Amino acid sequence: MALKIVVGAQWGDEGKGRIVDWFAAQAEVVARYNGGDNAGHSVTVGAKLFKLHLIPSGIVHPAPIAILGNGMVINPESLFSEMESLEKVGVKVGPQRLRISHAAHLITPVHKALDKAMEIARGKDSIGTTGRGIGPAYTDKAARTNLRVADMIAPDFIEKLSAHIMAGNRSLAALDAPQLEIEPILAIFAAYAERILPFVADTAAEMDAALKAEKTVLAEGAQGTLLDIDHGTYPFVTSSSTLAPAALLGLGLGLNAARGAVVSGVCKSFQTRVGSGPFPTEIEDDLALRLRGTGENPWDEYGTTTGRPRRVGWLDGVLLRYAARLNGFTELVITKLDILSGLPYIKVCTAYTKDGKTYTDLPFGPTDLEGYEAVYEQLPGWTEDVSAIRRWDDLPQAARDYLDAVAKIAGVPVRLVSVGPEREQIVEAK
Ligand code: GDP
Ligand code: IMO
Ligand code: MG
Repeated sequence: MALKIVVGAQWGDEGKGRIVDWFAAQAEVVARYNGGDNAGHSVTVGAKLFKLHLIPSGIVHPAPIAILGNGMVINPESLFSEMESLEKVGVKVGPQRLRISHAAHLITPVHKALDKAMEIARGKDSIGTTGRGIGPAYTDKAARTNLRVADMIAPDFIEKLSAHIMAGNRSLAALDAPQLEIEPILAIFAAYAERILPFVADTAAEMDAALKAEKTVLAEGAQGTLLDIDHGTYPFVTSSSTLAPAALLGLGLGLNAARGAVVSGVCKSFQTRVGSGPFPTEIEDDLALRLRGTGENPWDEYGTTTGRPRRVGWLDGVLLRYAARLNGFTELVITKLDILSGLPYIKVCTAYTKDGKTYTDLPFGPTDLEGYEAVYEQLPGWTEDVSAIRRWDDLPQAARDYLDAVAKIAGVPVRLVSVGPEREQIVEAK
């Protein structure tokens, strides 16, 4: 087996970054295939906390090559600032290690301004985007009007960028939003274009070569299944395909690459969501505060990218089963088990009811969740602190029972359990 795809099973922030970091110890290539700097992936190594937004989390290890695939939208400003922060803490991100697809799309100040203006225009129906320009960049991609990384290194880049900003200003005017000054953006992007040149590559060909050479390749999903543009809680989703099959398209791989691939579904041991949209198992009482944390700890439920408090609730088994089916999970990774320690009981949603009928699957996917009520199975909690445990057999019986219940509901075996944010705080399932 050479390809492993790590995907969020919920609404993002499942702990993909720390899990990719765990797998990356064995990987030769780590690649992002979707989204942009809306992602916030945390990796904790000793006293160091890395927050990755665009660059794959595997870069924290010294060996793997990091790839930004064609399915991504890349804001050069965020890219270079992330590279600088990494270099400052001793992580090497030169062109030998970081390869950027010529076919990836750009995020410009136009997209960020439009994202903001469109959210304001949506008023109470706002999506709660991260404000990173993701939606407008993918809109331009689909409209075939966007600039790509390859354009940055072409002789007519500044002309094209200037036309792009003028068009953006017309769209901003229609939204009563302030206009952008063209000249300063052109100057900054001219400098970015020079800087990006040595990193630009035919990453699809490099991925293919790596797989043919039987290298271990990790594909790192951003966001999560329920934020997928097609299969998520539309319209409260992101604008890219987040699912495992999108790793092939977003990296330029053929179907053969999927043969024997491992698909790891990363799932928090409870449910969180940041931004608007349905959330059938959401809780808002004292227990919610307990699951979210107060913000004192770096792992408390406040967005890595925006700092917003995350909405919290019990694990939704119906949606997890849905995620397992759409992604083809071959294994589950359960994170934040330590947070459940000390709860008197733990609930997991196994079905929904609506108008007196019980549903174990959603008739039309998760978009229309209005009126569906969660049906819970209640399991006993445990009091022991699990954060120092490294062996499955040492976990409290009630914790193992909970993990077994989750595996049964999802129909997928649990492979790893994370009991803390630190690199080594992992328990391998038997
Ligand atoms: P990602 O977007 O899926 O990579 O997840 P984020 O990094 O946005 O959010 C996950 C948060 O939980 C981060 O602060 C992680 O350091 C933290 N985290 C991950 N796994 C565990 C765990 O098992 N226990 C605890 N306490 N924190 C964890
Ligand atoms: P990671 O990779 C959690 C959410 C936003 C909003 C919606 C659309 O860290 O798991 P966008 O800016 O993409 O147009 O916002 O999607 N969202 C995320 N939520 N984790 C993420 O990434 C997210 N990326 C986007 O909050 O609801
Ligand atoms: Mg995150």
